[in-house]
Amino acid sequence: MIIKTKNFILRPFRMSDAEELAKNINNKIIARNLLTVPYPYKLKDAKEWLGVKKKDNINFCIEINGEVSGSVSFNRIIKNHKAELGYWLARKHWGKGIMSKVVKEMVKFGFSELKIKRIYAGVFSFNKASMGVLKKNGFEFEGILKKNARKMDGNLLDEHLFAKIK
Ligand SMILES: CC(C)(COP(=O)(O)OP(=O)(O)OC[C@H]1O[C@@H](n2cnc3c(N)ncnc32)[C@H](O)[C@@H]1OP(=O)(O)O)[C@@H](O)C(=O)NCCC(=O)NCCS
Repeated sequence: MIIKTKNFILRPFRMSDAEELAKNINNKIIARNLLTVPYPYKLKDAKEWLGVKKKDNINFCIEINGEVSGSVSFNRIIKNHKAELGYWLARKHWGKGIMSKVVKEMVKFGFSELKIKRIYAGVFSFNKASMGVLKKNGFEFEGILKKNARKMDGNLLDEHLFAKIK
């Protein structure tokens, strides 16, 4: 599945993306806001991640000007029911409305192609940019899941739960 827009392409990842992936995800703030992304992020981490195939998961590479510039995914997909949304974008592209547009495309894809009825995302309390992306796409705040997330360093963090229902 490939989704083409004026600003970006959403397409499957390939092993040859490893170098650009490692370069663009290697950011302290990206790692702080996601559950399982290490910092520093090495080429070996990218190769490992690209090698994993999970059957309840769909990952799209966000390609901008021919470069691997982020990722958007549905995780924990339950057929005809629900999926969890996750994403990150390379630092140089922040603040231009790109992720809001990416999420708009994913919502369309999830509801019409995957036939799911609920798309949800858990956001750490300090991540105002991600909450902005979700609110702009009509996701509703459902509550705070206290100490729901366990980071790689063992830290337990509260998650703000957002969802969009069809
Ligand atoms: C979260 C992230 C994907 C946002 O991408 P982006 O393309 O910069 O987001 P957008 O430009 O579409 O911003 C959407 C809205 O969020 C808000 N926003 C963006 N950055 C913000 C910030 N730093 N602080 C507060 N609000 C912010 C704005 O209201 C914006 O709406 P506007 O365009 O009408 O002003 C990006 O910052 C990122 O990759 N962060 C690290 C990884 C991450 O947090 N992933 C999500 C985990 S839940």
